[in-house]
Amino acid sequence: MKISFSKPAAVKSGVVVVGVSNGRKLSESAAAIDKQSGGILTRALKASTFKGKTGQSLTVMAPGGTKLDRVVLIGLGKAKEFTASDAMKAGGSVYGGLSKANASSITVCLDSLEGADIKPEDVAAEFAFGARLQSYRFDKYRTREKAEDKPTLTTIKIQSPGSAKAKKAFEIKDQVAAGVFLTRDLVSEPPNILYPDSLAKRTKELTKLGIKVEVLNETQMKKLGMGALLGVGQGSVRESRMVVMQWKGAPKSASGKADAPIAFVGKGVTFDTGGISLKPAAGMEDMKWDMGGSAVVIGLMKALAGRKAKVNVVGVVGLVENMPGGNAQRPSDMVTAMDGQTIEVLITDAEGRLVLADALHYTNSRFKPKFMVNLATLTGAIIVSLGNEHAGLFSNNDQLSERLTAAGLEVNEKVWRMPLNKAYDKMIDCDAADMKNIGGRGAGSITAAQFLQRFVGKTPWAHLDIAGVTWSGEDAPTVPKGGTAFGVRLLNQLVANNYEK
Ligand code: BES
Ligand code: MN
Ligand code: ZN
Repeated sequence: MKISFSKPAAVKSGVVVVGVSNGRKLSESAAAIDKQSGGILTRALKASTFKGKTGQSLTVMAPGGTKLDRVVLIGLGKAKEFTASDAMKAGGSVYGGLSKANASSITVCLDSLEGADIKPEDVAAEFAFGARLQSYRFDKYRTREKAEDKPTLTTIKIQSPGSAKAKKAFEIKDQVAAGVFLTRDLVSEPPNILYPDSLAKRTKELTKLGIKVEVLNETQMKKLGMGALLGVGQGSVRESRMVVMQWKGAPKSASGKADAPIAFVGKGVTFDTGGISLKPAAGMEDMKWDMGGSAVVIGLMKALAGRKAKVNVVGVVGLVENMPGGNAQRPSDMVTAMDGQTIEVLITDAEGRLVLADALHYTNSRFKPKFMVNLATLTGAIIVSLGNEHAGLFSNNDQLSERLTAAGLEVNEKVWRMPLNKAYDKMIDCDAADMKNIGGRGAGSITAAQFLQRFVGKTPWAHLDIAGVTWSGEDAPTVPKGGTAFGVRLLNQLVANNYEK
């Protein structure tokens, strides 16, 4: 889809989208059309329940006195309260509403909003970003979809008094959208196509953006002593992998010494059957997106490199397939992680923490990062706690937690902090080894996080349990149903707010 920006000018034909504020107050462009049509918009508004609230819209077909095919009025609410997020949602809703309405090109008039805090260029850029995010589709495996069922909208022309600045701002956001799309693609791919080696190969495309990509195979990981990760993958005929991605965007300091990187680590279980502790059949198909954490890290790297973020970043993903089989790991197996700690594997379905144990220690010991944030579809229990509204946040660092929480609120990818402490940590102590891979009956998400914490040393660290937010069954204004890519925009914002030079 093509999105362009230009200065406001009268729209003579086609489909036009105009704003209306609370109390049915017409924007300048809406008023112009209303006048030209002899008051048709005013009459249509009066005859409807449309009040101009955010989220409302009203379509007027072929108003007389004009050559317009369709005028779409969108509610902007109270100008004073209009936010970037409202603009983004409006863009998503307009795309969603018009993409299948037999329109191929639309013009959107985003006049200055009298009394609003947000600048017109930001309204325009956010609107465009929302439309782009809503335009995502994963349809590569549909061979028989009829043309008329496919989205028809291919061009959005946005008119804004700040069009030049909007274009610049949107170019950056569009790079973030590209990262989001990559994450959604990876999460949506089926596990017969996307498995550790094929996923690792797909990360190679990032080298085009200036990212250094290294892929570790099983022999290399064995040498490094990654017994926890390798144990999970040993039941699968597909070999495990670890991918290390580096983006060096920070300017060199005066001393010439490279700035310590920040690090993102992802769980990449390309399919989680549970292993010998086999999951029930119902809903098992959801476990194709058990690599969601890794997909976010990969999409985030693409977003950061795409917009040339001035920061040094490392992305590490542990890729395995958790299968039952003759060589699969058994409940009661004992494994030794890369850092030498021993783990009794009591349930093979608690595999994500085993993968992350080695990925986190590897990242920490090799890169000595300023902080690490890991993402994982780690526990079903986090869905019981927080549903699909918030990701679970666990951290040993208040500042990092506050920054993540703030960034999440800004981009509407919200996180909620959960506790960590000695009492929960004790629940994974084990008589036979340094620890076991499950806790007691309660607090399943917390004991999983305590397990991870045993592998991060003193480095500031946060764990996002994204099991409840990685996949959505419902369309939302900027997130079509399916893979959400929750975390890409959040972590991009975290970086932009705090870590760029
Ligand atoms: N991948 C699952 C967690 C999950 C569940 C993600 C539902 C998304 C939706 C994870 O590997 C798992 O199986 N966790 C177990 C842990 C338990 C055995 C301690 C769980 O949550 O049941
Ligand atoms: Mn599992
Ligand atoms: Zn899993």
